[in-house]
Amino acid sequence: MWGRKLTEGVYSVGAIDWDRRLFDELIPLPNGTTYNAYLVKGSEKTALIDTVDPSKKKDLFHNLKQLGVERLDYVVSNHTEQDHSGSLPDVLSTYPEAKVVTNSKCKALLIDHLHLPEDCFLVINDGERLSLGDKTLTFMLAPWVHWPETMFTYLVEDKILFPCDFLGSHFATSDLFATREREIYLAAKRYYAEIMMPFRSHVQKYLQRLEELPLAFIAPSHGPVYHRPEFILSAYRDWASDQVKNEVLIPYISMHESTARMVEHLLEALVNRGLEASPFNLTYTDLGELAMAMVDAATIVLATPTVLGGPHPTALYAAYLVGVLRPKTRLAGLIGSYGWGGRTVEIVSEFWKTLKAEFLEPVLVKGLPREEDLKKLDELAEAIAQRHREWGILG
Ligand code: FEO
Repeated sequence: MWGRKLTEGVYSVGAIDWDRRLFDELIPLPNGTTYNAYLVKGSEKTALIDTVDPSKKKDLFHNLKQLGVERLDYVVSNHTEQDHSGSLPDVLSTYPEAKVVTNSKCKALLIDHLHLPEDCFLVINDGERLSLGDKTLTFMLAPWVHWPETMFTYLVEDKILFPCDFLGSHFATSDLFATREREIYLAAKRYYAEIMMPFRSHVQKYLQRLEELPLAFIAPSHGPVYHRPEFILSAYRDWASDQVKNEVLIPYISMHESTARMVEHLLEALVNRGLEASPFNLTYTDLGELAMAMVDAATIVLATPTVLGGPHPTALYAAYLVGVLRPKTRLAGLIGSYGWGGRTVEIVSEFWKTLKAEFLEPVLVKGLPREEDLKKLDELAEAIAQRHREWGILG
């Protein structure tokens, strides 16, 4: 890649990972990703903001070389996770005069994860300023978007926010700026769902803090730079709001079609009542798609057969993800078929303790559903519709 100019003295020097298809060995990346790093050249000092995943460090050094960077005074580390910090040891070897500028929590984590020496750090506090001559960096501590040590850096004169993971997208593109807004909206929503949704209350708080800040660009560490900051800020306001949509998600798996038949019936009963309902067959579903749908949905109903006395392991995996991603879902339900018994309800309930949702009466049936079982699914659909009406999301 190459160093690309955002504005006078500010360059994007990170790497594009076109081929990466999985993050944290967990999150699907249908569009690859980028590890953005930014170079800020002041009249007296030069700073690098974040580094790149170690697998792409050659790109970072190539870009710095192309820009003729012979000395770095500072390397700002907004976040310890290795996709941003992993090349720090090599950066410090190449530019030994550089100080790692970060907060105390991040310093401790960088020492743990990268074994950096104590004396390479310049520790800053919330609101502190760092002069580069004619450019000034300020720092905003922003724990929990994504880890407890995360922070934002702001370039005062050029009104550029560098929020690291926050507001990013896993979207590999050679476009420096977020011009393909429709595609980037979806990539950013998927990213929000998988990475930021568990920290929704923190997201709300930081969105409020950013209201006070003049912004010309938002330059995250994944995906393109927002030259129209309101595009991503308004999307985040919607996703992180308490408002839910008239949507029911039915993640399901079926072994011998009994649970599938229940899902089909519930789906029809919901649609007939004016609800939007989407089944997610967990055998095929990209879990990122399910996570993205969870951003808005008012209701989630998990459908699983009972296997070895509990939920099907694939359904259990989905239940676990729902529990840890903590969507703003207001209603949670469980349906499925069992052979002779089991603890499916207890096990799923345990995983969903983190949800601030009302739990609907489960509908678990023995074997293939009978007429009376299908009637219970109609009652479940009516109970969901009733709650959606009460919340004013179903006319
Ligand atoms: Fe992109 Fe939390 O690392």
